Amino acid sequence: MPVITAVLGDITTQDVDAIVNATNKAMRGGGGVNGAIHGRGGSAILRDCIARFPNGLATGDAGWTTAGNLPARWVIHTVGPNYNAGQRDRSLLEACHRRALEVADEIGARSVAFPLISTGVYGWPRADAIAAAIDTIAAARTRVDEVRLVALDEAVHKQIRAALWVRCPPPVGAGTVGSLFEREPIQYSLRGDSYLWRELRARFADTPLPDDWFTLRTLITHAIEQVVGEPLVSRESAPWHDSAAAIYLPEFDPGHGMSAGHVHLPWWSHAGVPILLDRYAALRT
Ligand code: APR
Repeated sequence: MPVITAVLGDITTQDVDAIVNATNKAMRGGGGVNGAIHGRGGSAILRDCIARFPNGLATGDAGWTTAGNLPARWVIHTVGPNYNAGQRDRSLLEACHRRALEVADEIGARSVAFPLISTGVYGWPRADAIAAAIDTIAAARTRVDEVRLVALDEAVHKQIRAALWVRCPPPVGAGTVGSLFEREPIQYSLRGDSYLWRELRARFADTPLPDDWFTLRTLITHAIEQVVGEPLVSRESAPWHDSAAAIYLPEFDPGHGMSAGHVHLPWWSHAGVPILLDRYAALRT
């Protein structure tokens, strides 16, 4: 399985073996990421598209061309389903990712950068497109060892990162703060809390356990406050389990479910953080 990372930036600047282009069936250029790739890569890409794909490509299929002036060596073009036009079969979107990796194997590309296929002009709901991309790439049998999921803006980048931490949690070392997060609590307060739990687990994957519980509490509290953007105790006056104390974080919203994306700070101060401190104390005795 390739190592999958979330990258903030412009896909055309990625220094990888191949970048993936979200194109259309005709493969003769267009807007969005397609326009950026043809624009910066130069006319060699279009010439190759015409020569190698005189009839274009079917939805869900992929094929390679030169990358022209781009830092990458190849562009792997794939045609995502047009959700806005009623193409809503998720297997087509999954096929784009699978086929793109098969083409990468054909040409010997080991590092590949993907945009979020179909989430622009084609209108696929973003959270679902992210889930489809990660699940398909993680399950692919491929020799590609590095996959970057590239987003142009910070909010989308955060959303990809959160989804990755939930779906492909990074390993945590023994003796790290992250190791305290290994077993998940039986009961969370709201669904966003499980995302926050895994985000903290990933953030602290390499952080050595401090020497005292107070430092640990400060570390965890600061991290929570940084993610949520409010002091841990800011909603303490709201009654326990009151949904008025819930904070919505779009990056934790997988796009379904009533409390999706909501974090409940009182749960963290009354349950989440004490659980972690207890585990720390148990390790020390
Ligand atoms: N780098 C990274 N991501 C980008 C870039 C870039 N330079 N430019 C756009 N994106 C992102 C968009 O924000 C979106 O999330 O790529 C994603 C895909 O958006 P589109 O390019 O609109 O692709 P798609 O939805 O698959 O529609 C394909 O759009 O422009 C036409 O010719 C293209 O007809 C095709 C259709």
